[in-house]
Amino acid sequence: MGTNTQVWQYVKAYQWSDMLAMARNNKADPRQCSDGCSDRLVVITGATSGIGYATARTYASRGASLLCINRNVEKSRELCDELTREFGVRCRDIIADLSRLDDMHRVGHQLSQLCEPIDILIHNAGTYLTRRVVTADGLDTVFAVNYLSSFVINTLLLDKLRSQSHGRVLLVNSEAHRFAPWGLHLDDLCWEQHRYSGLRSYGSAKLAQLLAMQTFVQLLSGCNVTVNAMHPGAVRTESGKENGALYKWYKNRILERNFRSATISADALYYLGVSAEIEGVSGKFFNLTTLENPAPPALDRAAAEKLREVSLALGRLDDPLRSSAPCHDRESARNPRGDAPIAEPGGST
Ligand SMILES: NC(=O)c1ccc[n+]([C@@H]2O[C@H](COP(=O)([O-])OP(=O)(O)OC[C@H]3O[C@@H](n4cnc5c(N)ncnc54)[C@H](OP(=O)(O)O)[C@@H]3O)[C@@H](O)[C@H]2O)c1
Repeated sequence: MGTNTQVWQYVKAYQWSDMLAMARNNKADPRQCSDGCSDRLVVITGATSGIGYATARTYASRGASLLCINRNVEKSRELCDELTREFGVRCRDIIADLSRLDDMHRVGHQLSQLCEPIDILIHNAGTYLTRRVVTADGLDTVFAVNYLSSFVINTLLLDKLRSQSHGRVLLVNSEAHRFAPWGLHLDDLCWEQHRYSGLRSYGSAKLAQLLAMQTFVQLLSGCNVTVNAMHPGAVRTESGKENGALYKWYKNRILERNFRSATISADALYYLGVSAEIEGVSGKFFNLTTLENPAPPALDRAAAEKLREVSLALGRLDDPLRSSAPCHDRESARNPRGDAPIAEPGGST
């Protein structure tokens, strides 16, 4: 939680109208985009179930090439076989456990070495744990998967993204960022000193991702690469499957009773990734496809800067501000499809 002054500033900034807008937006259907996306490369994390799976299918059905960052080898290969068989598209995978720092770094480096541009990068992998689980690196698992993995990968990809003529980064976030109403415990992001709860750690990780979005928008400013976050709706998925029987009973019988199908999330992620209406829009939070004001702590620039410093240290990263490549020449950006050719089909990356 921030200082008393910060907390007071947040309290003053909360607006009833924002909460009413959220309630209204939660019931809305996503805008649809009918444009195709053949020849585009879509990178998506956590495509083996739920929202990621529905999104990978939606993009594949419109002709995109997929590069999926998945944890489970069998599920991942099954997914790629399915997408290639049903839609005739190219699907590759990188197997990675995004709770592990080594794997986050490996994914970042592998993606940065792709010769084709990443047209759309969707950070979707996430987990909800009712009990604190510490990773091999000493991090809180929810913090690592839901937030730090996207921070590390984006940081390692900055030079590549800056060198591209175009690109859209989408963060699958959540209205649950509002469960951290007074901000982050920036000195205790892994819940060693504060009481852990599923909602607190999940909400904080999502809030951290929104704060970091400001940093990446700044680092990519002047480039034709945008970064936006979205709430994918309240939808039925495998989320929480690692929790106990009681949670599963509550989820199946009560929580998800009015949840919708993950196809609405996929439609929204397709619209945000492809629609011309979103061209040039960056640093925004969408509820499905409706622009929304996030909670005040997500707009705190001082907290975003402190989080950046802590995340660089926790993520074992060099500061990209010290050495970032220039943006792609805007003149050549007029021919956005004129980047390096898509590599020939092959096996897994
Ligand atoms: N469902 C909702 O109503 C809702 C609402 C708001 C936000 N969200 C967000 O939507 C995103 C997708 O969640 P979902 O609801 O679709 O849940 P899900 O069905 O459990 O899917 C989560 C995906 O993330 C992968 N994943 C989990 N831990 C991982 C790790 N350590 N390394 C690599 N991949 C990992 C899972 O892989 P495995 O198949 O190997 O488990 C799976 O592919 C999450 O960011 C979540 O916070 C969901």
